[in-house]
This record gives sequence, structure tokens and C-alpha cells, in this order.
Amino acid sequence: MRPELSQYNHVSAGKVREIYEIDEENLLMVVSDRISAYDHILDTEIPDKGRVLTAMSMFFFDNIDFPNHLAGGIDDPRIPEEVLGRAMVCKKLKMVPFECVVRGYLTGSGLKEYQETGAVCGIELPEGLVEASKLPEPIFTPATKADIGDHDENVTFEQVVEKLGEARANELRDASIRIYAEAAKMAEEKGLILADTKFEFGIDEDGSLVLADEVLTPDSSRYWPAAGYQAGKVQPSFDKQFVRNWLTSAKSGWDKDSQLPPPPLPGSVVEATRERYVEAFERITGLKFSCWIGCCA
Ligand SMILES: Nc1ncnc2c1ncn2[C@@H]1O[C@H](COP(=O)(O)OP(=O)(O)O)[C@@H](O)[C@H]1O
Ligand SMILES: [Mg+2]
Repeated sequence: MRPELSQYNHVSAGKVREIYEIDEENLLMVVSDRISAYDHILDTEIPDKGRVLTAMSMFFFDNIDFPNHLAGGIDDPRIPEEVLGRAMVCKKLKMVPFECVVRGYLTGSGLKEYQETGAVCGIELPEGLVEASKLPEPIFTPATKADIGDHDENVTFEQVVEKLGEARANELRDASIRIYAEAAKMAEEKGLILADTKFEFGIDEDGSLVLADEVLTPDSSRYWPAAGYQAGKVQPSFDKQFVRNWLTSAKSGWDKDSQLPPPPLPGSVVEATRERYVEAFERITGLKFSCWIGCCA
């Protein structure tokens, strides 16, 4: 449900976030408890998910060495009481029209493309890689930003160059790989592998690149436990695994290839997913979620 905030105009709705305008320069980004799977936004929400994603993004904006879009703290007085803990005041930016994905390991759409062509986004990879293989080095695999209900589509680096020019494309690739490396090192110290992640950048009024949106959350990243990691099999993940497993099981009665919306999730799947998000936050940041502002735990 979209919160009606009397003091600000609602300007847009994404799959997970609601954007309101505070003034000429600033936006209020409110993170809902919505969850998407298989390109559908589900009818069932995951309690506290918005707070977990907000807390993680704030943590990484504070800890990653790159200019970011935060324009206020988590308890900024411009944040209305009813969304405290799951909203951020952000600089309004002109968003770069690509998702800046970095992969250190091969899985998901990257693996699929590799199996079909031997390359991902035009980057040739060695033969013999399998599900969850570690790549020789992290690669930049940009994608177009899809509208709600559509798939993101992988593109080549040349397509980014064509659209944005070589200098900006290089800047995006170098920044993405550098931030990934920094975050992967932090994850490693916590016993986790950051398999891949997606960044969104915007451009400020000076023309400088700014890290925006959400960053290094389980919705935008694949974290795997390092213990038990083994190439060749699907790794357990910290996000929607229970939701995906249930939706694709016979119990849900839903066919993901149909055009039909997925059915509501049972309480047990909701609770397990909530716990998984909280666990991800605590493991990745080393903080207690029960100490987070507005948290009901
Ligand atoms: N600082 C910013 N300025 C303008 N737009 C932003 C900023 N940060 C994020 N956005 C945009 O806000 C939207 C966030 O909503 P979200 O639910 O994540 O959307 P999506 O369905 O595209 O993932 C995205 O379209 C994102 O590109
Ligand atoms: Mg998003």
C-alpha cells in the first residue's frame, strides 16, 4: 500500500519504491514491503523488508568510498513519522539509463548467456565454467532498465558507449568494478561471497557520477555463504529463495510461464522470508536489526 504523505507530492512508483518530491533538489524515497518474483509484484508483502533494505543501503552508502545520493540521515526531520526507518532523503539526479551489474561469479542470466554464446555482454569467458563458477576477474555486465513487468536485458559495453560516450561508459565500468571489489572484500570478512550486484548511478548538476537508488541489498545483490560454497551447484541465497521455491512448487498451483499473477503467499513463507532478510542484514553489516529505527522486533 502506498503511504499517502500529505506534505509531499508523489512523483513515481517503482516495483519496490515510492518516490515523493520534497523540493527542487530533494526526493523522499520510501521503501515498501513489496516483493517481486519472476517479474511479478506479489500481492503479499514481507513485513520489515522496507526497513531492512533501507538500513542496508544506508550502511553501505556510509561505508563505500564513492559519492552517493543521500541528502540526510535516517532520522532527517523531513521524513514523515509514518515512514521513519524505511525512507531516505536523496538528491534528485538524472538517472543513467543502464543497470550497472558486476559479476564475480557466474549464475542467473549471466550463466544462461554464457551457456548459449560463451560470452556475457560481449565479454568472452574461458571454456568449462559452470553454475556458480568464480570468474577470472570481476566483469561489468550492463543491462537496460526494464519497465515494471518486463525483463532487464543484458547489453554490451559498446552499447553503453554508443548511448553515453566512451568517457562516461569507462567511468561507469571502472566505478562499478571498484565498488564491487570493495564490497566483496567486506563480505568476505563476514564469511560471505558477493557473487554479483547491480548499481544505479545518477548524474548531478555538475555532471558528476553519483551512486543512487539502493546499494548492496539482497534485492540488488547475490550473497552466498562462503562455507559450503561449491561451483557446479545452485548456492543458497539470502533473499527470495523461499518465495521462488514455493511459487515453483506444486503447492502454489501457479505456472510461472503463464500470464497469470502469482497467488498469495502462505504465512510460513512470509515469515521465513522476513527472517532471511533480517539475517542477511545482520550478517552482512554486523549490526542488530532490533536496534534499527522504527523496528518492531
Ligand atoms: N537519486 C535519485 N534520483 C532520481 N531517481 C532515482 C534516484 N535514486 C533512485 N532513483 C530511481 O527511483 C526508482 C526506485 O524505485 P524502484 O522500486 O527500485 O524501481 P524499479 O522498479 O525500477 O527497481 C528507480 O527508477 C530508480 O532509478
Ligand atoms: Mg529498483
